[in-house]
Amino acid sequence: MDDVLEKIDKALADVDSFQEACMRVVSILRREVPHFNWVGIYLKEGDELRLAAWDGPQATQHVRIPIGQGICGLAARTEETVIVDDVNADPRYLACFPETKSEIVVPIFGRSGVIGEIDIDSDTRAAFTAADQALLERVAELLGRLAA
Ligand code: SME
Repeated sequence: MDDVLEKIDKALADVDSFQEACMRVVSILRREVPHFNWVGIYLKEGDELRLAAWDGPQATQHVRIPIGQGICGLAARTEETVIVDDVNADPRYLACFPETKSEIVVPIFGRSGVIGEIDIDSDTRAAFTAADQALLERVAELLGRLAA
């Protein structure tokens, strides 16, 4: 996992904008970690989360999510990482892809609290480990620093 973080750290060294940083991050995460099947970054805009960058086999219809809705909304509201091992058993889940079995959402903190989040879907049940969480929280830290 350290090599993934290193690749991301290097890729962020010469970005021209925060948008470009988000695009590089989603692309590296999806390419480097086989069970990260769909990777997105949502940014907070008022009471909503707006999809800023994504990489995966298909686009999602959830390009704007109210902070009160879904696993994404929950992570933004509680300001904590949320892991759902079985999305079909969680009534809070907003369905995107029929293949998705589990999901992790990691908040990105700027100077004034949550500014966005990394959202990853996996086609494998209970795919996300403590190591994934640690990696993604480090990546969120790198992004949060860039945004500041
Ligand atoms: N499943 C998310 C919605 C976003 S899609 O996974 C891309 C949720 O429950 O908030």
